[in-house]
This record gives sequence, structure tokens and C-alpha cells, in this order.
Amino acid sequence: MKRRPQILGCKLAVPFGAMVLLALLSARAESPPVTTVTISAESKAISPDLFGIFFEDLNYAADGGLYAELVQNRSFEYAATEQPTWGPLTGWEFIQRGGGAGDLWVDSSRPIHPNNPHCALLRIRSVGEGVGLSNAGFDGIAVKAGEKYDFSVFARMLNVGGRDNKPAGKLPLSVRLETKDGAVLGEASVEASDPAEWKQLTANITASETVPDARLVVLAKTPGLIALDEISLFPQATFKGRKNGLRADLAQTIADLHPKFMRFPGGCLAHGDGLGNIYRWKDTIGPVEQRKGQANIWRYHQSVGLGYFEYFQFCEDTGAKPLPVVAAGVSCQNSTRTRETGQQCLPLADMPAYIQDALDLIEWANGPTNSIWGAKRAAAGHPAPFGLKYLGVGNEDKITPGFKERFQMIYNAVQKKHPEIIVIGTVGPAPDGRDFETGWKFATELRVPMVDEHYYKSPQWFWDNLQRYEKYDRTKPKVYVGEYAAHDGGRRSTLRSALAEAAYLTTLERNGDVVQFASYAPLLARRGHTQWTPDLIYFNGAEVFPTISYYVQQLFGINSGDTCLSTVVSDPREFATSSVRDGATGDLIVKLVNGANTPKPLRIELNGVTTLPGSATKTVLTGENADVVNRDGDPSATKLEVSSIEVGQAFDYEAPPNSFTVIRMKSK
Ligand code: AHR
Repeated sequence: MKRRPQILGCKLAVPFGAMVLLALLSARAESPPVTTVTISAESKAISPDLFGIFFEDLNYAADGGLYAELVQNRSFEYAATEQPTWGPLTGWEFIQRGGGAGDLWVDSSRPIHPNNPHCALLRIRSVGEGVGLSNAGFDGIAVKAGEKYDFSVFARMLNVGGRDNKPAGKLPLSVRLETKDGAVLGEASVEASDPAEWKQLTANITASETVPDARLVVLAKTPGLIALDEISLFPQATFKGRKNGLRADLAQTIADLHPKFMRFPGGCLAHGDGLGNIYRWKDTIGPVEQRKGQANIWRYHQSVGLGYFEYFQFCEDTGAKPLPVVAAGVSCQNSTRTRETGQQCLPLADMPAYIQDALDLIEWANGPTNSIWGAKRAAAGHPAPFGLKYLGVGNEDKITPGFKERFQMIYNAVQKKHPEIIVIGTVGPAPDGRDFETGWKFATELRVPMVDEHYYKSPQWFWDNLQRYEKYDRTKPKVYVGEYAAHDGGRRSTLRSALAEAAYLTTLERNGDVVQFASYAPLLARRGHTQWTPDLIYFNGAEVFPTISYYVQQLFGINSGDTCLSTVVSDPREFATSSVRDGATGDLIVKLVNGANTPKPLRIELNGVTTLPGSATKTVLTGENADVVNRDGDPSATKLEVSSIEVGQAFDYEAPPNSFTVIRMKSK
């Protein structure tokens, strides 16, 4: 692999002639020459919030993923517009057991709420051993022995008709967790009795066994006719025990990255597949049965059960600053599967209402409880403000006159009413090219405080671009690297790609005065529903599979700093490094990425920086070779080892081949 020498902190470490000499000498010597890494007190303040996450409901990241709901299509709202073979009963099976007989169909004549138009009607003519419906969740429902699950359903009895239009009386329902072969793993019952109104019935079930592919079964116990909707099953043990909460293991894996911010809800999902598909945050708050699900641009259904309240709450639970993104009044340029020509612009007459939605979002997040939208936040259980500081406007948009006009309208309105909010603009989908250039020019003219750059490139591109931000004009907008990932051949996730990302993150630290935020993309992928590779974390119903890139992100997340120290390297070939200080602990953190297939002996010298006595820790991520793959997060032949290391004003360390090392030491 070709890699260029790296320039650190604008200082070329050694003249080219000296490097040639070094190379000749090293060819003759038996062991490789020692590279000196000199860290000096010369420093600059950098963003303390550099490493965060970008969440998008892609690859079943929300429904069937982070959102802990175990029932698929709980509201009977799946539609053929999402997948040609889908309809309101997708995911459901009609059951008539042992002589039971009846009918199951879909109705929309008297919905729970106009945003949730369909429900199931179940007629039980003869009970037999049970008439009802079952749902196998997303590839089976994973349950754990001894865990409790909260079941709920909205039910409405229907008059049975006949001459006297007699009410149906009571209709008991048995609710079970069953194996796919019908063995009962837990059971509860609820009873519908109200013929007039939709009523929510609840119960909880304890699973007797751990099973990766159970199903939820609802069986009627008497003849009758009943409308059912919003049939739901949640583990009680959600992340932080939140109601309507998040899957604990996945959420914890994300929290373990120690993200400083979280961007949501997209990506392409934010600006949507045509104007009607733009993500509207107001449709995603309030009681879940009243939220307005819609087709996901990634061709499945988004229930928006994981909506803006849950996003903001998750940010709070993980200590991440919320970074919502609203569309810039235009849809994705790839809308309706066109390539770069599908951008549609909201009619100008609709822009005032659209802009008001963005202003209302700020009020909803930060406003007092006696404001219209702040009151809604309080009613949802969060009277305190969420402390929103950043707002993304647009995502990878084509920089057209239509985009510019709408972006400027939104930007001006937000600046005028909320000068405290930092707006983040967009500069197209690539690190260069027409949209990048015109997007930057436009943002600079408008004095937008920050822009969002995206790049999915080869590992070599990342090594070749270690100087990208050294050259950036510090007077222009700051940078948010909102989406990036190194894509190795065949879009595999390899040790090579993870190390290229690590090398690149050292340059983001060194340029943390320009780059304020960075987030790998995409974050999550459900095995079997992966639409984009590679991703940071894979999962199925029961397990989570972090990738090698995940550990790189985590090491940067837990070892970030707020000051960057000048670091000069005598031989920077296939090597990247950064040194930061964490103001909270006073620790000096040195990161060393060796992208070569050979060990790299290092002499680390501290110049004007003093280490304090006490042991330092060393964390080393490495693998047999750079080609080590972890497809779909399969455990790979990589090692992550933490140990102690003796440090001093000068000390030796040999960076293993293909490795990323973090040395953390006390300093003053
Ligand atoms: O991260 C996946 C997609 O890549 C995002 O939705 C989009 O912004 C980018 O093109």
C-alpha cells in the first residue's frame, strides 16, 4: 500500500534527503531504526466534543434495532409503497387452532387516531383451542429466561349486530409468548369490555426460557368481534428503564463509545424521498399511537416510536449533545430512485410554515414550560430544557438555486429568533467536486458557523489526506465531519480500514481548532437487513457485534482531550500520531497508529511537558495482518490489550505492526 509521509502540526519532521538516508541505513541494519516522537508544550485549544455519533434509521437501526419494541408492524400500517409485497397484515399470522374458526381483516373506518388509520378486526365464530393472531417480531422475538415483558394493546369491542344490536359483553384475550413450535414460554390475560371507545389493555409476561426466536400470540377466549391496534411488547429492562425505551444492550454499546454529541435522524432520511417524505419532527412526538409513521427512504416502515423525545432523552442519558438535522426545504437529490436529479423544492408558499416548524423545534427543546412547545415537552415528562445548541440544516444537498434560497430563509429565521443556536450547513455528499466547492462558497458568504462534510473513501485516501485540515482557512466556517468511513476493497470492514480511520482521527485532533465534530457512518446494522456496508455495530435480536472500527471510535471517545500538543515525528511513513491533554484529569494522551506490516520502534520524548510519577496505561489494538476482516461484526482475529507502561521524560515503545496504541499518563 502506498502511503505518503505525514506532516504534523505544519512541521515537516525531517528533510526528504535525510529520510532517504534513513531508509538506506534501515535497509542495511538488522533492526528497524528508532523513530523519535517529540511532544512539546506548544499547544492549542481543540474542540472538546470532537467524537460523537450519527444515528440514522437505516439497516433496521430504529424499528427492529435500537427501539426496543419487539412486535413488527404493531399498528398495521405497513404498506406496498414501502415494499411491494407488504400490507397492513405483514408480520401477522391469523390463527385458528383446534376447531376454532373466525376471520381477520383490516379496517380503517374508526381508527385510534387519524395518524394511525388502520387496525385489525378479529371475528371469533367458534373458539376451539383459540382464534387470534401472532407476530414473530423482527426475525423472531428474542426473550430471556426470567425477564419481564410489557404487553399492551388498544382494543375496542364491536356490537355483534343482530336485531337488538346487543353489545358484545366482555372478550377475554390470552396473551402468550410461544416458541415457534407452540410451546408456551409465558402467559397473561387481558379483557376487552368497552364497546364504545378504544381502550388500552396491559399485562406483563415473564419468559420461562431464553429463546432467540419466540413469537407473541394473542388468542380470544369467547366468540365476538373486536378491533385491535398498537399491539406491543417491550422488555421491561430497556436502557435506563425508560418506557417506550431503547434496547438495553445496543444502547449500552453506543453509550460505551462515550459520544460527545449525537446527530439524528439522518442522513438521507432527514430530507426524504420526495417532498411528502421529508422527516417532520412534529409527527414523531406525543403518545405513540398518535404518531405518524411513514415509509423510510431506505424502503421499510418507520413507526417513529423512536421519535424526537426519545432521541433527546437518549442524548441526555449518554451525555451527548443533541444535534438534530432538518431538511433545507428540499428533498434528497436521489429521490424516487433518480440519480442526483430528484431534488424537489418545497413551494415558497409552504416555506413560512416549514420554517416555523424549525423554530418550534427549538422552543420544544429549550423553551419554558409555559411556552406552547415547551409545554408539550413538559407534558411528555421533561419539564427541564434539553439544552439544544446545534441545528443541522440540510444533508448532502445538491447546491442548486432552489436549495440556496430555502436554506437562506431557514438560516436567517433561526439566526434572527435564536442567535444562540449554531446552525450547521451542508456542502454536498463528497469531500470535493462541484457541490463541495459551491456549498463552501455559499456557506462562507452567508457566514454559516459550521458546515457538514462527508466522505466514504478507501483506506489509502484517508492516509493520503492526513494534511487536509492543516490547509483550511481558520477564518472560514468550522467543520463537522458528519459522515465518514474507510471502505476497504469490496466495502469490507478490515483492520486496514479501522487503522486508516484511527490515523485520520489523529489529524482531526491536531486540527481540532477547525474540526469541531466527527461521526462515523453508518452506526448500526441488523444482520440480514443490512442495506449499507460497512457499519460500526452489527446486531441480531439477541446479540451485538461491534467491529474493529468500533474499538477505534471508542478509544478516541474515552481518550479525547481539549488541548492538542505539538508532536513531531522523525519518520512519519505509514505512521500517524497526536497528543492531547484532557483538562478534566490533566492526563496527557498520546495516540500512535502504525500502518506498516513491520514493528516501529519509537523513542518518545517529552519536551517541556512533565509526567507525574505513577504508572501510565497503554491500550493496544492490533491483529495478525491488515486484511483481518470482521464481516457483519464477526469476531475477528484482532486483540485489544490494556497494560501498564513505564513512562518518563523520554521512554521507548515499539508499536506492533498494524496497530493503534493509546498511552495515557499523568502530566503537568
Ligand atoms: O450513511 C448512509 C448515507 O450516506 C446517509 O443517509 C447519507 O447522508 C449518505 O449518503
